[in-house]
Amino acid sequence: MKGESFAMNGEDGLNSYKKNSKLQALDNVGPNTFACVQTIVEAVKLKFKNQLPELHVFFNDHVANEFNTLFKAFLIDRTYMVARVPGSFHGQLIPKASMNLMHTAFCVHWLRRVPEQVTKVGSCTLNKGRISYVSSSDEVVEAFGAQFESDAEGFFAARSAELVDDTFECLGCALADMAKEKTLETLITTEQKTLEMLIDLVMAGLVSDDLLDSFNVPIYIPSPSEIKRVVLGMKHLISIERLEELYYTSNLSTPDDVRGRVFHIRATIEGILVKHFLSELNTNELFERYIHKIE
Ligand SMILES: C[S@@+](CC[C@H](N)C(=O)[O-])C[C@H]1O[C@@H](n2cnc3c(N)ncnc32)[C@H](O)[C@@H]1O
Repeated sequence: MKGESFAMNGEDGLNSYKKNSKLQALDNVGPNTFACVQTIVEAVKLKFKNQLPELHVFFNDHVANEFNTLFKAFLIDRTYMVARVPGSFHGQLIPKASMNLMHTAFCVHWLRRVPEQVTKVGSCTLNKGRISYVSSSDEVVEAFGAQFESDAEGFFAARSAELVDDTFECLGCALADMAKEKTLETLITTEQKTLEMLIDLVMAGLVSDDLLDSFNVPIYIPSPSEIKRVVLGMKHLISIERLEELYYTSNLSTPDDVRGRVFHIRATIEGILVKHFLSELNTNELFERYIHKIE
């Protein structure tokens, strides 16, 4: 997969990211985006007391992201003004020194692309039999790690340019802060199940094995030390105020938990699957099999 754009499922239907991202919302109070902005607005209010400045909030996601659902929901809150900034966050998105505060959550682990050498059918670095770097050969893990380092440098360099001097605050790269072992454990289970489903489809002759071998999810979960290395290695970023580990343990004890998990995975990676497998893959069938298997 070479493309740069793999937005989550849009709108607010059954398979949408909005309806299937409880993990990100953490307290499950509603659309994640507004919950984050609200927290920031409350903090600004506390700081400025009665002289609240006018607040302009810019929402970024891929160009392909479906922003309309977000803006329809915005009608309920007028304490700040909004605009959208479509495009990849690996490059500069707004004019230099024009933003006071930035927040990002569960995003920086998304790579710009899967490293090319791991998807070449016939090459010795092909990531055969896996759909991510987890539990792969050293070469594959290194290729993903290098891709992350280069992408994260681009990300932080762009944010650094966009921020107004002296007011740098970058909250959350939440997944990046998770304890690596636990996160990887969860990822392995998820990957294993996705892979098994895809292999079933190959066995049933519904998907070609070359397509399966060249499919990888463009995600890399850095450890806190990898994050530190990237950030502290940059000449414009001065310090990290706080780096916390966020534990995520998955609970799949009831059928609803299982469905919830599968719907979340679907909302997150369906776009990538469709882009890679095109019409060869029936995602309804894939995710039905997935629920059945986990149950
Ligand atoms: C797991 S979601 C997190 C969304 C939200 N921050 C939350 O906490 O619920 C990751 C989001 O990052 C977006 N994304 C991934 N790579 C991106 C990129 N290069 N540029 C802009 N957005 C990107 C995806 O489209 C998706 O909406």
